Amino acid sequence: MSAVRPRYALYWRGPFEERVRERLRPGVRILDVGSGALPAISRAELPAKSNYVGLDISAAELGKAPVGAYDETIVADAATALPELRRSFDLVVSWQVLEHVESTEPVVANVRSYLDAGGSFVAMLSGGLSPFALINRLVPQEFGRQLLERLTGREPVTVFPAHYDRCTYRGLERVFSRWSDLEIQCYYRGAGYFRFNPVVQAAYLALEDRLEHARSRRFATHYLVQAIR
Ligand SMILES: C[S@@+](CC[C@H](N)C(=O)[O-])C[C@H]1O[C@@H](n2cnc3c(N)ncnc32)[C@H](O)[C@@H]1O
Repeated sequence: MSAVRPRYALYWRGPFEERVRERLRPGVRILDVGSGALPAISRAELPAKSNYVGLDISAAELGKAPVGAYDETIVADAATALPELRRSFDLVVSWQVLEHVESTEPVVANVRSYLDAGGSFVAMLSGGLSPFALINRLVPQEFGRQLLERLTGREPVTVFPAHYDRCTYRGLERVFSRWSDLEIQCYYRGAGYFRFNPVVQAAYLALEDRLEHARSRRFATHYLVQAIR
């Protein structure tokens, strides 16, 4: 049903990958924040002499990544400043992680300090005011996991707690206010969460169509951020 909307026909990771690819060049130093089991960039795509570091709060998640996916891994909370990483990267990437950190501000400040002059941060995250996020915030965490399993078939271990701190258009503008350049793109693609019932999904899609039509920044389901240090 959702496939009839052009926005659902697009390859979902396409815009993020395009922004990342634009910044790949020989020798590029990349940090993937919250990379866990799935590196944002595959080994085949990495340019010659690049250095690709995966950072995640969970050693177990990093351990699930394909062998040799990263040149180096760091087990750490992205909110904890690691002075040894200061000015060490040209590019920091992060796919669906910022909504999972307890406090976005220190994470973004750390990312900025890890970038060298002119370096970029490219991140995709879920919006904190989308209908699904609002439901997710209202229900207790464990119940939310079980609900998601029931509704979408996702295994509970693949569902990470989401806090959505500053995960709104204005919240992001504030958190990135010190960066020299910022672009935030809005996406409206939350129908997958409502596929358990065609009637509910149709109602959700009608609402989402209106949000997209109105170009609502506030209620976008996802944000693609690209910022320059
Ligand atoms: C939804 S997963 C995304 C993983 C990967 N980026 C991907 O594309 O599949 C969220 C990841 O963020 C990690 N994470 C959550 N909070 C974090 C934090 N404060 N610092 C670092 N990593 C964190 C989780 O362990 C998990 O691997």
